[in-house]
Amino acid sequence: MMLNSIQSICCIGAGYVGGPTMAVIADRCPEIMVNVVDLNEDRIAAWNDPDLSRLPIYEPGLDAVVQRARGRNLFFSCEVDEAISSADMVFISVNTPTKRKGVGAGQASDLRWVEACARQVAKCSKGHTVVVEKSTLPVRTAVAIKAILDIPSRKNHTNDSIPTFSVLSNPEFLAEGTAIADLENPDRVLIGGDNQEAVEALVNIYKHWVSEDKILRTKLWSSELSKLTANAFLAQRISSINAVAALCETTGADVREVALAIGTDSRIGSKFLNAGPGFGGSCFKKDILNLVYLCHYFGLPEVADYWSKVVDLNTWQQSRIARLLVQKLFGTVTAKRIAILGFAFKANTNDTRESPAIRISLDLIEEGAQLAIHDPKVDPTQIELDLKQQPSTVDSNLLAEGTWHFTDSVEEALKGADAVLILTEWEEYRRLNWAFLASLMRAPAWVFDTRSVVDSKQISEAGLILWRLGQGED
Ligand code: NAD
Ligand code: UGA
Repeated sequence: MMLNSIQSICCIGAGYVGGPTMAVIADRCPEIMVNVVDLNEDRIAAWNDPDLSRLPIYEPGLDAVVQRARGRNLFFSCEVDEAISSADMVFISVNTPTKRKGVGAGQASDLRWVEACARQVAKCSKGHTVVVEKSTLPVRTAVAIKAILDIPSRKNHTNDSIPTFSVLSNPEFLAEGTAIADLENPDRVLIGGDNQEAVEALVNIYKHWVSEDKILRTKLWSSELSKLTANAFLAQRISSINAVAALCETTGADVREVALAIGTDSRIGSKFLNAGPGFGGSCFKKDILNLVYLCHYFGLPEVADYWSKVVDLNTWQQSRIARLLVQKLFGTVTAKRIAILGFAFKANTNDTRESPAIRISLDLIEEGAQLAIHDPKVDPTQIELDLKQQPSTVDSNLLAEGTWHFTDSVEEALKGADAVLILTEWEEYRRLNWAFLASLMRAPAWVFDTRSVVDSKQISEAGLILWRLGQGED
């Protein structure tokens, strides 16, 4: 096999990264067979569902890409061993959450799923296989993967059929909600590795749709570390603007004006300067904590403390919102109805992992509030899992304290509410008819807008009181 003509790819892990990434590769490289495998049978069944609205993740444009490639050269299955055996290149795209126990608990990445993949690849591969780290991994993980792949005694192989491996790092920079656009038109593709032939084999795949000048080739360790630090820099910007937002609220400045003023400096740039309820998502927190762990491990406690503060500020930002709401509602929310608009960690995704809405909702439930939660894409069963509490029925909710229930419409959520708290910047929340909605609420009624989505004039004309993050009370 010539490495530069990869014919068959296997991707282990059919999650938020593996699914969309492989769908785009298959779409753009029709001559390459792409098998996406996962242990989770329900997830694979959902990827194979003829009804494209039931794919396991919601991403704008994903359905069209899957429709073009699925059944042609894109296949989803649970046949992990078979897919590895027939592949020239194996992507490892499994979860790498924060370790829950043992050394490094609460900070280090739990690499058990990555290690399991490496062992399975070692067992099932034939010939020369390029193993690509797609998961976000601690710097120098490739050493461990290579060590597992190179275990000499393999019972299943005769001497002349002992497989060989090259390991590459190819971290993924897609953001949820814009995954397809990010994959089809990336800022850059990063490939780290020592084996130039293997590097070029992967470059050739991306060259089907990414221009050569956007493909960066680096050392393995630079590539692994760049992924963690890219996320740390992005998260740091959000904590910085959220810190400024709090200062704006107490000084009479407006964070949107400050963001515009500083963002027009081309050295700073205008992106990622939206103040909000704190960053969520599956990766920022875990990746910074992993970076903090690595800094300690490599004897750099001052560097570790520096990055820790980005997470501390984010936790504070989330907890101050619930406190502030209670304070504005005369010091108590017990048995008061509060409408929560948006539960996903950002718009255009159904993902709730580390969503600020979880902590804020739990704090308000703890204070005795009745939450009416609306989100256009998040399933109520996911909210139940996140809040670890069953929803109340409408009847039992009338007098109850510390409850939540899901509503299918914004109007239903706002009925009888003392306050509405906007936590996700869904487009539909920008176009609400506040004059009508105000008539459904109990006066004096508040709008707490943490995403700057409402029009302040409409709110005041509707007789509602507006508190906006980074500006305060209107
Ligand atoms: P995910 O949890 O959505 O998907 C991982 C999948 O891997 C799961 O479906 C799981 O069942 C499967 N899996 C685990 N072990 C397996 C095994 N041994 N064999 C077969 N399947 C196995 O995770 P994700 O969000 O796709 O993230 C994957 C990696 O990509 C993580 O390292 C993450 O940090 C990184 N990443 C995520 C994003 C994102 O937006 N979610 C973006 C960039 C990078
Ligand atoms: C982030 C990075 O943007 C991706 O490059 C990276 O690949 C990915 O993490 C990962 O490694 O998982 P994602 O978490 O999907 O992507 O979404 P972002 O758009 O980065 O938003 C993260 C959080 O920050 C959200 O809660 C969002 O609302 C918040 N945010 C973002 C702000 O509060 N303000 C902003 O200006 C931007």
